[in-house]
Amino acid sequence: MTTTDRPEYYITTPIYYVNDAPHIGHCYSTLVADVAARFHRLAGKDVFFLTGTDEHADRVATTAAERGLTPIQWATQNAEAFKNAFESLGFTHADFIRTTEDRHTEKVTQYIAALESTGDIYLGDYVGWYDTSQDEYVTENTARENDYKSPVTGKPLEKRTEQNYFFRLSKYEKALLDHIEANPSFILPAARRNEVVGRIKQGLQDVPVSRAVDPSTPYADWGIKMPSDPNHRVYIWIDALFNYRSAIDTPDRNHYWPADVHVIGKDILWFHAVIWPAMLMALSIDLPKCIYAHSWWIREGRKMSKSLGNFIDFPTMQAYANEYALDTLKYFLITNGPASGTDADFAHAKFVEVANADLANGIGNAVSRVTNMINKYFDGKCPDPNGITQHESYNWPEIINKQRAQVEDALAKFDLPGAVRAALEISNQVDAYIHHTAPFKLAKDEANLPTVAAILYHCAEALRISATLLSPAIPEKARDILARLGVTDPIPNSLDAICAWAGAGGLKPGDHMTKGDALFPRIDPDAEPPVA
Ligand code: MSP
Repeated sequence: MTTTDRPEYYITTPIYYVNDAPHIGHCYSTLVADVAARFHRLAGKDVFFLTGTDEHADRVATTAAERGLTPIQWATQNAEAFKNAFESLGFTHADFIRTTEDRHTEKVTQYIAALESTGDIYLGDYVGWYDTSQDEYVTENTARENDYKSPVTGKPLEKRTEQNYFFRLSKYEKALLDHIEANPSFILPAARRNEVVGRIKQGLQDVPVSRAVDPSTPYADWGIKMPSDPNHRVYIWIDALFNYRSAIDTPDRNHYWPADVHVIGKDILWFHAVIWPAMLMALSIDLPKCIYAHSWWIREGRKMSKSLGNFIDFPTMQAYANEYALDTLKYFLITNGPASGTDADFAHAKFVEVANADLANGIGNAVSRVTNMINKYFDGKCPDPNGITQHESYNWPEIINKQRAQVEDALAKFDLPGAVRAALEISNQVDAYIHHTAPFKLAKDEANLPTVAAILYHCAEALRISATLLSPAIPEKARDILARLGVTDPIPNSLDAICAWAGAGGLKPGDHMTKGDALFPRIDPDAEPPVA
């Protein structure tokens, strides 16, 4: 059932471990999904954007016990921190799912029961190397590399056997390879796809999907019980992956499936590109169209870690937003982030360089030049181009169509930096146009005023479109630019309407325009970075 006749777009983020506090990694994954969601709304889609928290980790119950809280109290407190962070970043998710909610746990129980009934989940023996000092199994490789001692404490590992429920992953090896081959954009970027294919070809083994309940631990009752066996809890990763279904598996939402994109980080690719699709195949559910795995942020050339204390935590992000505007931060993250196969450096000098080049000297300066000239020569009223759309070598409707096509091509490839660059290029062209036609010189002779009017109308109209197409990345500043240009209507959900040159939503001669303060004040490269 569809509720609208618009095409649907369902995009998700990973659900975040609730034991942690939000940091740049979580915010970046969510920002990527937010920017994509906003772009697809502009393109007229009926977008459903999901984020949330992953709450059934054993650590949640142990930390809660240490703090004298119940696990759910501790989880709720931290889930709130994620919700607040995402709200202050202005994210536009339609729902925030928590894996401790009944709507999720009930569905997971059903999915697992269905997998048991088809024989895709079975009871078997798990043999592995157990690190008693960390209470976890380590893989055969890790055990061997560490001489069968704990990689953390050096204590000897124990070989343990336990009964576990397994998912028959091995059965789906060929089907997965076939699907990945037949759908080149199933795993993006391409480097990540090759990695996955290489690993699948080494052979797939069945994977445990449960953990035995140990009544002596604080987490004995934390998690979802296996439907057929209350002495086992569903393994947290299996529980978590199902959020993408449980959130929309209702009569009013199931039309959003299959998901268009699961945005994730490269560290969690295997679960998303192999285990999740295989479980969906076992359940005869269509696969998501794309798993997009971004790389990682590092900071000033070094990996971020708790031990180095160099994490860009949420307070640091807020310090940047307060000092330079939230949209400047978003713009930097989205255009210079780890969107492709390689990690990206959050270097302060780079941040300043990008903000100054693209925003302060780029669109910010273009808007200020154009609104200043309109104020000076036309008394702040939108000038009349008298039907002229081309001046010298600049054919504006053509320029706009070309840039719009580039935005759309980039979106089709999930290339968000490319889409943003294509939108910003319009404002760069405005700059070049002003430089080339020099309206400030022409205006010295009154006889030229009709030409100056046409030039400045072209500039302002092009900036309207540029700002609108940039709005997914810089939503607040885009609104500000539009307000200065005299546009107060909501942004239309249609690229045709947005890009129609001097069309129904275009600038109207005579409308009032304002100059305002600098939109993106130039940042002093020598100033100290802001601290939280
Ligand atoms: N709970 C699991 C996901 C379950 S999804 C069914 C999880 N959570 S997480 O909180 O640890 O991480 C979530 C995301 O943050 C991952 O996509 C991860 O890649 C991202 N990041 C964590 N640190 C990061 C950077 N330094 N840079 C960019 N993103 C990174 O994994």
